[in-house]
Amino acid sequence: MSIHQLITERFKAALITVSGRESVDPVVQVAGRPEFGDYQVNGVMGLAKSMGCKPRELAEQVIQKIDAQGLIAKMEVAGPGFINVTLDAHFIISELQRASDCKRLGVSQLTPQRVVVDYSSVNLAKEMHVGHLRSTIIGDAVARVNEFLGHTVIRQNHVGDWGTQFGMLVAFLVESRQDPMANVDLSDLESFYRQAKARFDDPAFADMARQYVVRLQAGDPEVLALWRHFVDVSMSHCDKVYEKLGVQLTRDDVRGESAYNDALPGLVNDLRERGLSQLSEGADVVLVDEFKGRDGEASTFMVRKKDGGFMYGTTDLAAVRYRAQVLKADRSLYVVDSRQSLHFQQLFVVARRAGFVPPEVDLQHIAFGMVLGKDGKPFKTRAGESVKLNDLLNEAVQRAQQLVAAKNPDMPEHQQFEIAKAVGIGAVKYADLSKNRTSDYVFDWDSMLSFEGNTAPYLQYACVRPARIALRVGAWKDSIPFSLDAPMERALGVHLMRFEDALRTMARDSMPHVLCAYLYDLASAYSRFYEHCPVIEGEAVNTSRLKLSNLAGRTLAAGLELLGIAALKEM
Ligand code: ARG
Repeated sequence: MSIHQLITERFKAALITVSGRESVDPVVQVAGRPEFGDYQVNGVMGLAKSMGCKPRELAEQVIQKIDAQGLIAKMEVAGPGFINVTLDAHFIISELQRASDCKRLGVSQLTPQRVVVDYSSVNLAKEMHVGHLRSTIIGDAVARVNEFLGHTVIRQNHVGDWGTQFGMLVAFLVESRQDPMANVDLSDLESFYRQAKARFDDPAFADMARQYVVRLQAGDPEVLALWRHFVDVSMSHCDKVYEKLGVQLTRDDVRGESAYNDALPGLVNDLRERGLSQLSEGADVVLVDEFKGRDGEASTFMVRKKDGGFMYGTTDLAAVRYRAQVLKADRSLYVVDSRQSLHFQQLFVVARRAGFVPPEVDLQHIAFGMVLGKDGKPFKTRAGESVKLNDLLNEAVQRAQQLVAAKNPDMPEHQQFEIAKAVGIGAVKYADLSKNRTSDYVFDWDSMLSFEGNTAPYLQYACVRPARIALRVGAWKDSIPFSLDAPMERALGVHLMRFEDALRTMARDSMPHVLCAYLYDLASAYSRFYEHCPVIEGEAVNTSRLKLSNLAGRTLAAGLELLGIAALKEM
């Protein structure tokens, strides 16, 4: 159950009673300091102002009127009119028991919605590089959390698999291989792409490439088969990176640009016939006056070039329609870097104006910033090339292996390697997910692999402690109730109860860092508990503490899993 919701509802009812208004929205926040209680309620001040009475007096009235039964132990007016709320220990205890008894840790399912998440969506024919990292892992975490909360999540990998460069690549495939359909090893896609491009200087090749484009677009079966083969090879490269990253995308989630190809001419004609687009220097454009260019004129969204070719945005119009009408999305999320922000704003306006997407469907661009090097510029290799994701992930595992080996010199090497994979990949992902996605961040090996601070290794290590305790204790009796007498026990207990709220906020705003911050605070609360409240003293096991420790371990592991990060039992 959402504690936040519960408290909000009780206060809402009380505020309505004392004010006589039809509706009042209190702002309930987690208290910033222990002396403020567990939650702080705001919203009385504004109400008092509009009613012409004293905020602190109104707050007192609210406290008199509220139904505190079974939820709140203590309330206090603070400052200019806040209300500090301390929860009832019995309530916390029963919530903890409920979470402890439940596979889902007590997290309830929301009214299911259909949530489409467009993520990763790389352009094929090139190797995945660091620029693809953020969409891939942020999207994956967003998808997992929505699914866990009970939504039907439909992943869409909108890969760039169509366009003139594919004609060129197929031409080069034919030219450079004896049997272009044989299982070619394009282990170095980059160089294949570069070589093909270089061949373009030869007019004969350029001519052939153009013919291939025409044949591809005309649906020539032979060329289509070659194209499919090439796309398949490119996709296998992505699959390997997804697997290394522990990202849940599969081939079933791929619906690339090519899938919308047949819909484009009809779509563009439809816009023209309905007067939604107009001709501008021979091209079909939609004027979007909601967004103005530098000159103050309406911005334009081009759907067909002068030469008849379609645009990135034309395909996206077909896709946004498909997602609303065929996939029946209630929410359609696009996890794409913030440089495409104008594109998506225009897309959404045009899609709604054309009636492709009903007003009640939520369209959102889940934008994110760039990965920077330590010099504050876009992250590149020393040679100034884009960093291949595969290399980056290998390096992460290697670096982690050194750390693990230093910590556990006696551990067998294969075990070190398994842990290193979880720690290295986890570190890269967590360093990204833990930052507010809207800003850029600096990629820094040392800080992401540190065992201290808000990092994956710190959290993974926090999972190991409860696992070790559980192993040492063995069987125990669950009938012994939780008790929260020590302040560190209570603090851990209250934080554990807030898991559902953290997940809901993360899903509502598609902000993974909210969940990261929650888990970091949980690990810290656990750490304080661990130091002050021994679970095992001499021979005696404190069962309530053991239960708290286990629940903390399960919650941490579940949270990491929802971020797509492996939890560990040993490291
Ligand atoms: N392939 C595009 C790129 O690399 C991203 C696609 C994002 N999704 C979308 N529906 N436009 O820039």
